[in-house]
Amino acid sequence: MKRRDVLAGIGAAAAWPALPRFARGAEENGVTVLTAMPANAPLLGSDQPQTPVWVYDGVTPGPELRVRQGEELRVRLENHLDQPTTIHWHGLRIDNSMDGVAGLTQDAVPPGESFEYAFTPPDAGTYWYHSHVRSWEQMARGLYGALIVDEREPTDYGMERTLVLDDWRLDEAGAIHEASMGHLHDWAHAGRYGNWLTVNGASTPTIDIAADAPTRLRIINTCNARITTLTIAHEAVFVVALDGQPVPPSALDGAPLPVAPAQRVDLAIAGDIAPDSEIAVLESSGEEPVQIAALRPVRGSGASDHRTALALPDNPIARTLDLDTALRMPLLMEGGAMGGLQSAVYKGEDLPIRDLAGQGKVWAFNGVVDLPEAPLFTAQLGQTVVVEMSNRTAWPHAMHLHGHHFRAVSLNGVARSASPWRDTLLSEVDDDTHIAFVADNPGKWLLHCHMAEHMAAGMVTWFEVTA
Ligand code: C2O
Ligand code: CU
Repeated sequence: MKRRDVLAGIGAAAAWPALPRFARGAEENGVTVLTAMPANAPLLGSDQPQTPVWVYDGVTPGPELRVRQGEELRVRLENHLDQPTTIHWHGLRIDNSMDGVAGLTQDAVPPGESFEYAFTPPDAGTYWYHSHVRSWEQMARGLYGALIVDEREPTDYGMERTLVLDDWRLDEAGAIHEASMGHLHDWAHAGRYGNWLTVNGASTPTIDIAADAPTRLRIINTCNARITTLTIAHEAVFVVALDGQPVPPSALDGAPLPVAPAQRVDLAIAGDIAPDSEIAVLESSGEEPVQIAALRPVRGSGASDHRTALALPDNPIARTLDLDTALRMPLLMEGGAMGGLQSAVYKGEDLPIRDLAGQGKVWAFNGVVDLPEAPLFTAQLGQTVVVEMSNRTAWPHAMHLHGHHFRAVSLNGVARSASPWRDTLLSEVDDDTHIAFVADNPGKWLLHCHMAEHMAAGMVTWFEVTA
């Protein structure tokens, strides 16, 4: 099945004018209800067979949740699946008890039961939510959605759009390819790559943007494993935020933009654009570039000042890293196909790779597979932590830290002074990346590869921050 076989322009664009919408799930007394449930989704197009999926509230992606920075969001998860689930609020620096990690911060919610999440996001920006139980299956089947935290004061953008990217592995009938679900081959290689790319649950949608004012594009990569590479065929595109955190606007100048699994990029599309021209969004991680969406500039935003500020206001992250007194923790990443891992500790037992592989475990952090009983490290509240990651595998990994944002302070021995604050960082083959953060959020937090199959096959550990 070829993505390019699908007709362009199967529409998903909201009608103009489109201001930020308070699109939410069903609301009950200030609590948003999100129901995890089986449903059918028109992934192939409205005139094609539907795909049986597992989603929130019957739609893929799940409802876009919005909350204002500093205000409380309350969400009740209702589990109508036939397996346990939770919701993780990816990238939000919130209270540990609301982090949604089954077995670490809460019990998984059994079928038929519910759990109420309540939290107050400290940072504005582009985030997302997803299942954190059997993510390799539940995310692949569609359990995720966008979570947007609006700035306290409205920004200057005339318009904004969210682009939720996913790649699905579908069979000839358009159903999710079941036979390969949980297949050890994927787990030991790059992870589950799909053969069908969607943006907001549609194939090659046309998305309206403003012709006469800057548009903010919020891009979220929800793929299990694919490192998407995006090109936008327009001169005036600027990166303005990464993983929710503002960066000084920098021009893309047509360069391909890698977005690893779980990462987000906010782009500003600025400048005067001829209305009804079309701007192609291309994805080029595969053998040949594929158009995944079209942006259609439309007049009528009402904004007249073209020199609108593109920069977004800073978030209240603790930025003062005390590298001299930091807790330093090496993190040796090993395993996978062509990785040469001989043995590792699993459930307290040192096992040869053959035995590990028999149990679906092929990756290790510091010689340990899956969550160790004791934390990888314990930091004092307010302490600077440096995790010294060494990727000694034959694969890139999207390393994600829960509850904090961090920045790379050195790459392959070279100090980096201005790297962005992120919650997910792409570690390339053989990279030595030192990441640093202030451990200012008490509780038990995960550190894992966000390629869902790598995590399931062992690439996950945890740390504790004590008050
Ligand atoms: Cu986006 Cu541990 O997850
Ligand atoms: Cu990985």
